[in-house]
Amino acid sequence: MLKGKNVLLGITGGIAAYKTASLVRLLKKNGAFVKVVMTPDAKEFVAPLTLSTLSENQVFSTFKDDETEEWNNHVELALWANFFIISPVTANTLAKMANGICDNLLMATYLSAKCPVYICPAMDLDMYKHPTTSDNLVKLQKNKNILIDAKNGELASGLVGKGRMEEPENIIDFINNHLREGLFLAGKRILITAGPTYEKIDPVRFIGNNSSGKMGFALAEHAIELGAEVTLIVGPTNINKQSNLIKRIDVVSANDMLVAVEQNYLSADIVIMAAAVADYTPIITSDEKIKKNDKEISIELKSTVDILKTIGEKKKQNQLLVGFALETNNEIENAKSKLIRKNLDMIVLNTLNDEGAGFEGDTNKVTIIDKNNKEEIFELKSKLEVAQDIFNKIISLLQQ
Ligand code: CTP
Repeated sequence: MLKGKNVLLGITGGIAAYKTASLVRLLKKNGAFVKVVMTPDAKEFVAPLTLSTLSENQVFSTFKDDETEEWNNHVELALWANFFIISPVTANTLAKMANGICDNLLMATYLSAKCPVYICPAMDLDMYKHPTTSDNLVKLQKNKNILIDAKNGELASGLVGKGRMEEPENIIDFINNHLREGLFLAGKRILITAGPTYEKIDPVRFIGNNSSGKMGFALAEHAIELGAEVTLIVGPTNINKQSNLIKRIDVVSANDMLVAVEQNYLSADIVIMAAAVADYTPIITSDEKIKKNDKEISIELKSTVDILKTIGEKKKQNQLLVGFALETNNEIENAKSKLIRKNLDMIVLNTLNDEGAGFEGDTNKVTIIDKNNKEEIFELKSKLEVAQDIFNKIISLLQQ
């Protein structure tokens, strides 16, 4: 949600300002571009150098830059921002915001901002309870500021009560959830599988395939952008991405993947099986490394369970099931037969005959066939763009 977004962080002079270093780090981790504007008092609680290092940007505090003598343009700063977070916001700044008092760069920037503004109050409990603070908060929310309310707990004064700034992790979660509301897949649960499965022969060897998992990760990332809740079941992969918006379950074998899918598919509205599941697994897995000798050896294999077909048989009326097909010949015919055989709503066909399509690369070329027998052929695109095409199709099926 925050990826690629410009986030302006306003910091005012309260003890909770020390937590903003983590907030900047988390915003950056979520892919946001961050600039910081702080009141002069805030500098007593957190060093501008810490914030400029973490944000990789200059920190603004006064109208005139002391070093360059240049004017810090508050209007430019405000219009740059897609979101403005003011955290912590003291009782003093809340009062100024509620009354339009413009006596520092942060306030001038606030009054120039056209983007959504999130406010995270922090102060002592009696200041928080004071009727003027309550009135100011009501007024600010009426003026479309979004409140991330203070929490109960131990305060810097030693008293215990409501007034602690929300923790940085929760601020990020709050904003992500807020941004998701109203999106196309808001409230939808999506289960995605990705990557290969490894079928063990002995402690050091396995049967696997070339799948990188990139297509499944691209699908998961785009589903998040559309507001969905995502569970990603992923076979062995070099992709280490972790996100607090994606529930990632790592598995190894086809059987592990089957178990994980069975545990999670019932609550899913949409299931997308992008994993390249092994069709066969050794009947016997040796506990010890199989030693070399001069004779030929053979490994007896048995079929794995077709996960997609299994859940296709149990599909609920309101569930949408998407499969992938990797083909080398009679592509369309084979894909259509899989669509029917596995009771799917749509199938994404990639063929190894297309250059740039398939396993390990960053691009893919697909044809999407839906349950109405409609075929759509797409150009070679990045896997993220392919994910967008797949979700456009899913959304159009949901709207039928
Ligand atoms: N699939 C599955 N479980 C398996 C094998 C495949 O869930 N044991 C799923 C894949 O995730 C994919 C779809 O079935 O979404 C089609 O996979 P594919 O390998 O193209 O086809 P198969 O059904 O395995 O048939 P074949 O290998 O004969 O083409």
